[in-house]
Amino acid sequence: MLESPVFWAGDYRLSVISFFDSDMMKLPIRPRRNRKSSAMRGLVRETSLSTADLIYPMFVQEGNRDEPIESLPGCKRWSIAGLVRECHRLHEKLGIPCVDLFGVAPEALKTPDGVEAHNPQGIVQRAIRALKAEIPDLLVMTDVALDPYSTYGQDGIVRELPGGGVEVLNDETVEALVLQALSHAEAGADIISPSDMMDGRVAALRSALDERGYDQVSIMSYTSKYASSLYGPFRGALGSAPKTGDKKGYQMDPANVREALREALLDEQEGADILMVKPATFYLDVIAAMREHTNLPVAAYHVSGEYLMIQSAAASGWLNEREATLEALVSIRRAGADMILTYSAPRVAEWLMQENC
Ligand code: PBG
Repeated sequence: MLESPVFWAGDYRLSVISFFDSDMMKLPIRPRRNRKSSAMRGLVRETSLSTADLIYPMFVQEGNRDEPIESLPGCKRWSIAGLVRECHRLHEKLGIPCVDLFGVAPEALKTPDGVEAHNPQGIVQRAIRALKAEIPDLLVMTDVALDPYSTYGQDGIVRELPGGGVEVLNDETVEALVLQALSHAEAGADIISPSDMMDGRVAALRSALDERGYDQVSIMSYTSKYASSLYGPFRGALGSAPKTGDKKGYQMDPANVREALREALLDEQEGADILMVKPATFYLDVIAAMREHTNLPVAAYHVSGEYLMIQSAAASGWLNEREATLEALVSIRRAGADMILTYSAPRVAEWLMQENC
């Protein structure tokens, strides 16, 4: 039978006093018993991290060079051949289930309306075809947004404002995103991931995909993508930083969480298969709230700035890369995310393999 808390409080005080007399505390409840050995800690562990939960974001570019990315140490801008070679390793040796592709567009291909985004012979479309031909079991996810192809570095179709600055037009952008998504589905993408935050884009993508017979292509929606300071290293990798203005007119205010649930409800009604929160570690409360309010799987994107913070601190010797990375990722899982997009995926898969040996 459980004793009353009052009794325990009293007893505890007594036992502290008697500790000095009899040198033993009377403490029947000792939470540390559950931490007494590695095996015991394993038994009581509440959250696990597995390679099966990881999605690796990758960058692909024209030409035959695989270049290291200065802002994302350990990551590369891959040629298509290099990408396929690396994905063989990721899939077969490390067991990574899914990659997320981002295309690097040379300045010459960028236009105000970003039409290169839906070129059937574009870099992403060719990369999808090459991957699905060579490694059919690897899930290929693609980012849907215009920023890598837009001279403005904005995610959508832009109208210049008379007083300077720009406005990203919602409905015109959704039409362009539909074309981009269809070109990815046509090339064989398994999962389409709109990262633009336009209103109504999930419904528009779902119905366009279904109409063309792509009813098995999934949608992972960037449901609550915040206007975050943490995307800098990614924009450095792609050369996609906004040329004018910012993205606060469509990405969410970091101060809000109820708004994320409103977006989640809409994405669910519009037919999203997976809801994503981005960034991850500054937004663990948002992940937890989303987990509570939806039965859909929840994904979290541990973004470039989160990755670089750990990499930089580890490079200067002040943090242990492995410990800090695993702690960050397990905290994202603990908050309620089912899967994590992370630039550390290959390293984590290697660490987890070593642990299991
Ligand atoms: C583009 C996009 C961005 C990221 C993913 N897709 C950048 C942005 O919105 O400016 C960021 C990813 C990262 O920082 O790792 N729509």
